[in-house]
Amino acid sequence: MIEPIYQPEPTRYDSGMEYRRCGRSGILLHDLSLGFWHNFGETAPLERSKEIMRFAFDRGITSFDLANNYGPGYGTAEETFGYVFDKSFRAYRDEMFVASKAGYDMWPGPYGNWGSRKYLMASIDQSLKRTRLDYFDVFYSHRFDPETPLEETLQALVDIVRSGKALYVGISRWPLEAAGFAFEYLRARDTPCLLFQDRLNLIDRRVEADGVLDCVRKNGSGFIAFSPLAQGVLTNRYLDGIPADSRARQGRFLKESQISDDLIALVGKLDGFARRRGQSLAQMSLSWVLAHPGVTSVIVGCSSTAQLADSLQAVSSKSFDSDELREIEEIASRITL
Ligand SMILES: NC(=O)c1ccc[n+]([C@@H]2O[C@H](COP(=O)([O-])OP(=O)(O)OC[C@H]3O[C@@H](n4cnc5c(N)ncnc54)[C@H](OP(=O)(O)O)[C@@H]3O)[C@@H](O)[C@H]2O)c1
Repeated sequence: MIEPIYQPEPTRYDSGMEYRRCGRSGILLHDLSLGFWHNFGETAPLERSKEIMRFAFDRGITSFDLANNYGPGYGTAEETFGYVFDKSFRAYRDEMFVASKAGYDMWPGPYGNWGSRKYLMASIDQSLKRTRLDYFDVFYSHRFDPETPLEETLQALVDIVRSGKALYVGISRWPLEAAGFAFEYLRARDTPCLLFQDRLNLIDRRVEADGVLDCVRKNGSGFIAFSPLAQGVLTNRYLDGIPADSRARQGRFLKESQISDDLIALVGKLDGFARRRGQSLAQMSLSWVLAHPGVTSVIVGCSSTAQLADSLQAVSSKSFDSDELREIEEIASRITL
């Protein structure tokens, strides 16, 4: 059967939500970005991936976060994206904001990892082929490389923009001092760092504590938070046990052994606060991240459109009163993963 041509929802920008400005730039992003780390690789049902991407776009989500090695099956999340893009989204490319990255292990040997010019240049070409895109909107150094001169990694990013393979550059998980150097270096070469990407959620507040969030804001970059739901821990996903189709059951980056009774008791308390606020725990967790000044967007993962629908209700986040916030943060501070 010939598949009907995808017609996006005409009201997709009518929710009334204001898109957030990404630092000192012309780019605006939805509160939520869709992440492809899990659930879009070669083991994920293609139909479901397509459904989630269309569901997101139909609701005004424009920002899609990829990396070379997302899968499982390195490269396969980008291939899934490329396949669906070709079938459904090509006509809407200019409405989309697509990111990819290189920095972690991708192919064997000395040139498929870390931050060399050789790795970044080869990797973006591969990623463009897999995603069937002509350019990325933003291309990131996925992690700080303590061995490669920072100038080499950063100049590769600058040259990627100058070659037209990406419109903007970003850095992910760079420590404070190196990030400060990167902001200066990139600014001086007229390719200011558009986005800084790092983890921020109720139980991992390192970027607040070590000054990264402040530094990003002062430097005019946007901050985009990953794992805002702590891979599903800060939701109701594990409150009644470990579901067979859950990330913890897959045991790759989140292990069943991490979902202890003590952890669930504390998450249950957070769930109680969320309910009293009239939110799901996922919504409250996202609202908390989105309430931080300087946060441009949160990148959510999901394994169903129902999860994304739930998370979408956290947009234009509900504020917290100070007593409530203190209690929520105190409970969250006792959770270790
Ligand atoms: N730059 C980096 O180094 C880096 C590192 C990590 C992630 N990232 C990016 O950030 C993205 C998000 O990270 P993440 O996947 O860890 O994010 P997350 O949003 O913290 O966790 C996503 C998981 O939470 C569960 N979930 C999502 N919405 C839910 C809801 N409303 N109710 C109940 N459960 C829900 C799902 O678990 P189940 O799958 O079990 O259903 C989903 O897979 C990644 O896809 C990637 O694009 C970047």
